[in-house]
Amino acid sequence: MTAEAGLPDTLRDLPAWTPDPVELADLELLLTGAYHPLTGFLGSFDAAMVIAGGRLADGTPWPVPVTLAVPKELTVHERLVLQDPEGVPLAVLRVAEAWQDPTSSRWCLAGPLEPLRAPAHGPFHRLRRRPEEIAGGLPDGPVLAVATREPLHRKQLGQLRQLTDKLGANVLMLPLLGGDHDEALVRALLAVRRDLPEGARLVPVPLPPRGDGDARRDLLLRSHVAAAYGATHIMGEQEAEGTAIPVVVPEPWAYDADVEVWRPVARIEPDHVQAELTPAELAELLDRGEPIPEWFTPPAVAAELAVARPPKLRRGLTVFFTGLSGSGKSTVARGLADALVERGGRTVTLLDGDVVRRLLSAGLTFSRADRDLNIRRIGYVAAEITRHGGVAICAPIAPYAATRAEVRRMVTAAGDFVLVHVATPLEECERRDRKGLYAKARAGLIPEFTGISDPYEEPDDADLVLDTSRLSPEEAVGRVLDLLVAGGWVRPE
Ligand code: ADX
Repeated sequence: MTAEAGLPDTLRDLPAWTPDPVELADLELLLTGAYHPLTGFLGSFDAAMVIAGGRLADGTPWPVPVTLAVPKELTVHERLVLQDPEGVPLAVLRVAEAWQDPTSSRWCLAGPLEPLRAPAHGPFHRLRRRPEEIAGGLPDGPVLAVATREPLHRKQLGQLRQLTDKLGANVLMLPLLGGDHDEALVRALLAVRRDLPEGARLVPVPLPPRGDGDARRDLLLRSHVAAAYGATHIMGEQEAEGTAIPVVVPEPWAYDADVEVWRPVARIEPDHVQAELTPAELAELLDRGEPIPEWFTPPAVAAELAVARPPKLRRGLTVFFTGLSGSGKSTVARGLADALVERGGRTVTLLDGDVVRRLLSAGLTFSRADRDLNIRRIGYVAAEITRHGGVAICAPIAPYAATRAEVRRMVTAAGDFVLVHVATPLEECERRDRKGLYAKARAGLIPEFTGISDPYEEPDDADLVLDTSRLSPEEAVGRVLDLLVAGGWVRPE
């Protein structure tokens, strides 16, 4: 692909590439200076040194390898346009090194970046600021950064007030974007601004969790970004060596049930300490749509928690049937759709395999690549339905485990996902042969026919397995409904 219009003529013929979400966030932070002193994606030597010892080759501490992976074909160019998912060019990379990552074998490009325009994708753009816009305007004295992917509840608000009083510090809130509920996070933090010391600032920063799940490196990286924004301290759960600015760890707080306030545990009579809501208890309340107690979090924060995790009876859901042709997927899926519509209270969309192939996936073949594309299209639509609180019922063969897993990931970013394996044995599907396709496949008239001359990878992650040679259609639908009732998505009758 070459770069889009809207570029200077000299750049129009350059190859263009859209980095993945973490790399795009890295790109934005490199361009704004939030990754100071880094100004470009790392080369092989720097990346190896960072992984081995948390330092760049010149000895500067840096916690995570900020790298850019590209397809091998793109490694032959001297310059490359980096663009956002909508194809808007953001920067030109001058390639200083093309190298192969020894662990992932992926090709990476390193080199300095020339900014083309400020990134404009993502929510709450009007709140974004470059580090210099913030750092320059902060009052003198300590600035405590709260760089967080979680809302602040009454406990953290109390702890934060205690720390800022002690340090005489201003507060800089840096909601870290790149999770599944960025908007709710920012709104939840905006909602508690009144409870923070006068003059607290809030700047959303794109910093998605990195795949490695390394909490220490994550804290280190947050500390570098916070320092670039002018913070002198960062609030954290534990101290860590090598942070750009000191981590301040609040003392333990708890809810004093006697006087009904949160305060340091040290100041509470032991038998007045009320146990905090655990994440599991909080999730349970949200799932059931029960109110979050006010002693735990302000109502405005509770409202955002419910946006991010709606009650199951109203939460978007995809029920994904997979199984051989003729296994009974369509029949059970249609029966389920009818049953849900009859019960009311939900909008239901049925994405049946054959129906999808007539419109959404018209023209696709049954090659592996086309089957995968077909399933991804279904997954994309199902994820959107789920995001809007609907029920998507899908019933394609979906023979490949990796592609089903991809759909599961897409959907669970937006709501819930249930996989039903319709495991009717091949002999039974073939005996039924409603459409006469098995006979044709056996006769060699249809190539690549699933179960005959093409693979079907049995799921090992199904939430329910049905064999329609042993169940009537009504019984099969009943099993699925039972599962949905037990899971809390559907009210018992
Ligand atoms: S998938 O593999 O991409 O998930 P999908 O569910 O859309 O398949 O389509 C399967 C339907 O297409 C079958 O029910 C059958 O009617 C028809 N079909 C036509 N050719 C093939 C084939 N080679 N393999 C499987 N199904 C086929």
